[in-house]
Amino acid sequence: MEEKIRELLPELAEIEDGALRDKVVAAYEAALERGGWQPEDMARMPFTLLLEPCPATYLEHTRAVTRCAVAVGAAMAEAYGSRLNIDRDHLLAAALLHDVGKLLEYREEGGGFVKSELGRMLRHPFSGAALCYEFGLPAAVVHVVATHAREGEGSRVTPEAIIIHHADFMNFEPFKL
Ligand SMILES: [Fe+2]
Repeated sequence: MEEKIRELLPELAEIEDGALRDKVVAAYEAALERGGWQPEDMARMPFTLLLEPCPATYLEHTRAVTRCAVAVGAAMAEAYGSRLNIDRDHLLAAALLHDVGKLLEYREEGGGFVKSELGRMLRHPFSGAALCYEFGLPAAVVHVVATHAREGEGSRVTPEAIIIHHADFMNFEPFKL
């Protein structure tokens, strides 16, 4: 399963810190197992249940958000240098994991995807943050996962959290037009 996760999410290889990269993979492995999924299911699972039909898969959304976040982080680092402290490894890890809780939030029923019982009680920012905490991700990464969506309004305290929140919505709102 681990190899398949690395293959489906090639941006993992861009994380320089090997220990951090392994923790991201371990969190994914646990989320997939606990959700009853195979890694390949990420390529057919909708990235949101709010758009029907959903225009993109979980995998497409996660990779697009990651690439957008990294591009924005690079542009801002180039523009502002040391005036803004953006950690590229944290940005990558957090972007890849921002929606990992969705693997626990959904279940499959009658050929479609619906909210799981856990998902009804805990939206993915909560379950995702708990999972990341359990697997030893740094607080800066858990923070992004916890605050990336509406639950995080008024709580984001790092550039990475702000960048990933916007990258996430940039990859959602245009599909509503
Ligand atoms: Fe999300």
